[in-house]
Amino acid sequence: MGDAGAGRPVVYVFGAAAGVVLGIGEAVRAGLARGWDVAVGLTQAARGWLEAQVPRLEELTGHPVKTAYRWPGQPDVLPPADAVLFAPATFNSVNSLALGLTGSWVVGYAAEAAGKGFRWW
Ligand SMILES: Cc1cc2nc3c(=O)[nH]c(=O)nc-3n(C[C@H](O)[C@H](O)[C@H](O)COP(=O)(O)O)c2cc1C
Repeated sequence: MGDAGAGRPVVYVFGAAAGVVLGIGEAVRAGLARGWDVAVGLTQAARGWLEAQVPRLEELTGHPVKTAYRWPGQPDVLPPADAVLFAPATFNSVNSLALGLTGSWVVGYAAEAAGKGFRWW
């Protein structure tokens, strides 16, 4: 497993089901190389495409790849994020976000971003 935590800032790398999400490992490696503690979040559709890569992504990051919301009372499996990169974001996910349709955990997390004090870039 990767060396999760250890005082590094945490970045969530989120991906939706656009073709380039198959290369999300490159973003993970870039973040790790720059000293970030990286955790991956995927929409359900993106996870289906990346299922074979999930064990490697979890090994690289030291965190579970998160797709589903936690259950009530269940502790979060990820440390709190200092930054979030949502790339690629599909038309579907962007418009779900705009409409506040948060069936997907990554879209829901992005919807909460303002309340969590994140600035949009
Ligand atoms: C090969 C392939 C490539 C796709 N690329 C894109 C894309 O670049 N942008 C996009 O908005 N949708 C793309 N789609 C469509 C999305 O996968 C589809 O809208 C899906 O429902 C998105 O779900 P998500 O936003 O929950 O990941 C692609 C679909 C396929 C099969």
